[in-house]
Parts: sequence; C-alpha cells; structure tokens
Amino acid sequence: MYNLAILVSGNGTNLQYIIDKIDTGDIKAKIEIVISDKSSAYAIERAKKNGIKTLILDKKNLKNNLSDEILKNVKNCNLIVLAGFLSILKGEIVELFKNRIINIHPSLIPSFCGKGMYGIKVHEAAINRGVKVSGCTVHIVDKGTDTGTILKQKIVTVNKNDTPESLAEKIHILEHKALEEVINEYISGKIDPEILKR
Ligand code: GRF
Repeated sequence: MYNLAILVSGNGTNLQYIIDKIDTGDIKAKIEIVISDKSSAYAIERAKKNGIKTLILDKKNLKNNLSDEILKNVKNCNLIVLAGFLSILKGEIVELFKNRIINIHPSLIPSFCGKGMYGIKVHEAAINRGVKVSGCTVHIVDKGTDTGTILKQKIVTVNKNDTPESLAEKIHILEHKALEEVINEYISGKIDPEILKR
C-alpha cells in the first residue's frame, strides 16, 4: 500500500478531498497519519471523523524541534503532503524525504510566494498587482520556502470584479484537483524520486 502523511494547519479542505478520493478509489493510497502544528486545526476533526490516526505537534511548544518530531512519526510513509501546512520543514526530514515532500501553494510560483506569503495575503498581493491570471502550484519541498521543483500548475482568470476572497475560492477548487493529480503521478511512478535526484 502507498502510505501518505498529510500535514495541516487549518480547515483541511485539501485533506478532505484526498480522503474522499481514496474512498472512491480514485487515489489508491492510505493516509497513515494526519499531523497538525496547531491544536485548533479543523483538519484534525476531519481526519478523526474518518478514522485516520492524528497527531498534534504544537509549533509554539516544539519550536525548532517540530520537524524532527514530525520525522519520528512518518517513517513508514512514501509521500508527505503539505496541505495547508504553515510551518517550514527543516533539518533531517528534508534530506531523508528528498523529492518525497510536496506542497500546494495558492499562486503561480514564482509569483506571490516565499516567506510570509500565505493564506489571503497571497490573493491580496495578486489583486493589488493587477494580474490577469493566477492559480496554484504543487511543488517539491526543499530547504527554501516555495523554491523546490514545480510539479504542476493550474490557472484561473482574474476578473476585474474579483476580490481576494473570490480569487481564493476559485483557486481552492483547482488546488484539490492539482494535488490529486500529483499524488496519483507519484503512486503510478510517473514522478520517480530517483530521477528527480539527478
Ligand atoms: C490552501 O490555499 C493552500 O494552498 C495553502 O493553504 C490553504 C489550505 O486550505 N497552502 P485547506 O486547509 O486545505 O482548506
């Protein structure tokens, strides 16, 4: 079985989508564990409702040890999916899981990404800049912030009536699909971590 670890910090609609796609057989994998860096993340409730093992590793308490604590709990996993996870992974986990950690970001990287660019701020920046298209990016997690290899991007048109909130909503729908596609590409071997290492 292909084992996933899903890391979350918030609402967890991306997590829910993955759960639903596993239920319908569209993603042939098992969610081994859902880890949150925030005790209040609703994503944890979603996981519990579906009988998935959960773990809260509070970043406020763990500080620099967060990544190492995560590593201890994902050793059996094939792929780590950051689905709205707001902490930066560092240290051994990034090396041991090289090319096997992916993140979903709600813009077309390299625009509107990097340190401090998360949540609604991303969409505010896009609207303020007057972009005509935006979208989402699934990328590999490396030591930087949003700097890893881009695996997939999906695009939406930004209309003159769009607000940061309406743009976020449109992009969210695409995020779900993009993550599903990339996870399936990993499972089917289309994205081979060995090839990415070269
Ligand atoms: C998404 O917009 C994702 O791109 C970003 O955080 C948000 C998480 O949404 N990294 P959800 O918690 O999966 O609903």
